Amino acid sequence: MEKNIHPIFDRLMKRSEREQWLNQRSKALWLTGLSGSGKSTIAQHLERKLFNEGFFVQVLDGDNIRNGINSDLGFSMDDRQENIRRIAEIASLYLKNGIITINAFITPTKALRDLAKSIIGKEDFIKIFVNAPLEVCEKRDIKGLYKKARKGEIKGFTGVDSLFEVPENPDLEIRSDRLSIQESVNKIFDFILPLIKY
Ligand code: ADX
Repeated sequence: MEKNIHPIFDRLMKRSEREQWLNQRSKALWLTGLSGSGKSTIAQHLERKLFNEGFFVQVLDGDNIRNGINSDLGFSMDDRQENIRRIAEIASLYLKNGIITINAFITPTKALRDLAKSIIGKEDFIKIFVNAPLEVCEKRDIKGLYKKARKGEIKGFTGVDSLFEVPENPDLEIRSDRLSIQESVNKIFDFILPLIKY
């Protein structure tokens, strides 16, 4: 612990009180996968579904966070690490507030996913691999970024010239190229329901 810093955690309200008030158990869902694999879309629809079912939930998403708190960061491995570290700290604050987060970030390496897990805590970190093959993501190319990356206009693009390590032991895998958005959302919902029900 840093000198001259005196945390007051022990005097604050407890997570358990907030969870009881919200009538839910908080968790951090971590959606990892290539750009264009469907993380953000699934996150949006899952947020709506959970909200409609009476859960209090917040999406944290790559493009949004990178426009705000992380607007100073790029895509070098160091910057991606700092990106993930800050997001995991934010998710951790939500967690203590009793709020469920849906975090949608490429999180391209095992080390980065482990970093997020260690900040959030292994009991509360749910790793969901949104898996669509690179060819499919590239063919969709909704943001036109793969095209730019192939032309060399973006350097260090995940899956093109920057590493993506396939998650080996996700809690859940969603083959987003085979399932519809609704099927993907329902699969995640069914998986997490027992974990978030009070
Ligand atoms: S992460 O690697 O640090 O987890 P994050 O999910 O926040 O990435 O941001 C990914 C989004 O940033 C992509 O969906 C894409 O829109 C945009 N982007 C811009 N440049 C790159 C790049 N070099 N590699 C990957 N994504 C990029």
